[in-house]
Amino acid sequence: MNNKIGVIFDLDGVIVDTAKYHFLAWKNLADALGFEFTKKHNELLKGVSRVRSLDILLSIGNVKLSEEKKQEFLVCKNKEYLEFIKKMNSSEILPGALELLNTLDALGIKYVLGSASKNAPLILKQVGLFNRFAGIVDGNSVSKAKPDPEVFLIGAEKLNLQPEQCIVFEDAIAGIEAANTANMISIGVGDKETLEKADFHFESLTEVTANFIKELVKRVS
Ligand code: BG6
Ligand code: MG
Repeated sequence: MNNKIGVIFDLDGVIVDTAKYHFLAWKNLADALGFEFTKKHNELLKGVSRVRSLDILLSIGNVKLSEEKKQEFLVCKNKEYLEFIKKMNSSEILPGALELLNTLDALGIKYVLGSASKNAPLILKQVGLFNRFAGIVDGNSVSKAKPDPEVFLIGAEKLNLQPEQCIVFEDAIAGIEAANTANMISIGVGDKETLEKADFHFESLTEVTANFIKELVKRVS
């Protein structure tokens, strides 16, 4: 087992693409409230907690709601989202993710999940990856959402490593900020301009090679 480094993966947008399902569920809510919610708006919700997402959505529509009504809508949105999740299977694992997990296994590098989603365990089970992770830190385990580093710091504890020994794969600005604040090596996956604060960047996990990981091990040692 290589105990010099460990990896923390974000889930949505790195391992699977659930943003499209979040979009459909949030859009239905916006439709019901009578305002337009576009795919561009949806970008603002990436990496953001469910509660904060609703606040952003309501500010887009300039709608004010009571706490009680907000709770009702949160439950309703999640119910609808879960209908999509329950239909997911391994074909929805993003390109390169499985290969990267295999590479890490071959190198003896442990990995955990660090996600804002309260549905993370269910999603991992749906796509058949639940048992691959050494630990799961999700939206139920944290009191502070990304960009706060809490989720990744708990991940480091699960890996029994110092933050500087951890590598984070993230697709959202809030997640890169969280990793950087935690003093971890941040790797942005997706749009380069959006993820400019990441230490390294890849358009997709298909570009991450075993050699790159080996170089990181050397760098941390
Ligand atoms: C993050 C997604 O992983 O999880 C966000 O990027 C989402 O878009 C957040 O709002 C919370 O997810 P859930 O499943 O708890 O509603
Ligand atoms: Mg994400």
